[in-house]
Amino acid sequence: MGGKGLVADLRSDTLTRPTRGMREAMLTAEVGDDVYGEDPTVVELEEETARLLGHEAGLFMPTGSMANQIGLRLHAGPGQEIIGDHLAHVLRAELGAAAAYSGITTRSWIAERGRLDVDTALRVMVPDGGAHQVSTACVVVENTHNFGGGTIQPLPDLQRLRRETQAVGIGVHLDGARLWNAHVATGVALADYGACADTVSVCLSKGLGAPVGSVLVSSAERIAQARILRKRMGGGMRQVGLLAAAGRYALAHQLERLAEDHARAASVGRHVPEAVDPGTVETNILVLDVAAAGWPAAEFVATVGERGVLGYPTDTRHARFVWHLDVDDAMTEHTADVLVDALRERRPGPAS
Ligand SMILES: Cc1ncc(COP(=O)(O)O)c(C=O)c1O
Repeated sequence: MGGKGLVADLRSDTLTRPTRGMREAMLTAEVGDDVYGEDPTVVELEEETARLLGHEAGLFMPTGSMANQIGLRLHAGPGQEIIGDHLAHVLRAELGAAAAYSGITTRSWIAERGRLDVDTALRVMVPDGGAHQVSTACVVVENTHNFGGGTIQPLPDLQRLRRETQAVGIGVHLDGARLWNAHVATGVALADYGACADTVSVCLSKGLGAPVGSVLVSSAERIAQARILRKRMGGGMRQVGLLAAAGRYALAHQLERLAEDHARAASVGRHVPEAVDPGTVETNILVLDVAAAGWPAAEFVATVGERGVLGYPTDTRHARFVWHLDVDDAMTEHTADVLVDALRERRPGPAS
């Protein structure tokens, strides 16, 4: 337990619980059988999300992983590849789904903080591998970047990638699980981000605070295909207007407040410059290089956890802390105190 009896659960922004207003919206949602296309609340959510992102159509999905994997399947089939950075959620944290379900291979490059490196992506891609090399079907971009530390991808880079890939017939899938955070932090319109990709997945169940749900948007033709793939994978859902209502409520009432999460994460980042460059804390995710302060990441996370600050070791060097709806100012101050103390404990003393 924390010294002040506080527990800040910063393991992920998926931990949020539905707010009262959201629960009321769920209670009164109109529903129907969505496999028949008869759930009006789902249809509204799909249309609204597609409109926001400047695409023709949307499809409600149970998870971000399914939205990503069906999105990728629209670009690539067995024996083709997708490429992305080495920390991309699609490549690293979806348990090999592209290979397991779609026979898609992957290649990646090392990217500092998950930042999109267009020149490297262009070097890695193989538009037409012929009979000798795997052909690249799609580049995946994550915005904001989870394991990179909430990194925002600059719009000009996204636009350039889009232009260059389009010229050679390669697709772009945007894993926009936290695209909302990029939009709120930069003021860039969601549709401007949306215009940089053929397929975009967004999550309602992260910082937005819905209990479940993602939406995949793309052209009407691709989404019709995605509907078949979703059913085939067992993702056809019935009266899920209850869940879509939570998503619609989140978009209407809990989008702008993401800025509070960003401010809190940044304020803690300023206290621990030995473990993170405070200028790089752009949104709601703080990734600390605790190894630089002498800590193995798992041990650091266990130690601060005993003091009431719960995080997640993303590898042996780094500990991740994610701000969200259920973390307030008091918890944030407590987090700063605990992290500062813990980092100091391993710092070598002055040379004797
Ligand atoms: C960037 C990113 N994409 C996709 C996902 C997958 O979402 P889900 O857990 O709903 O499958 C996550 C989950 O944390 C994520 O961070």
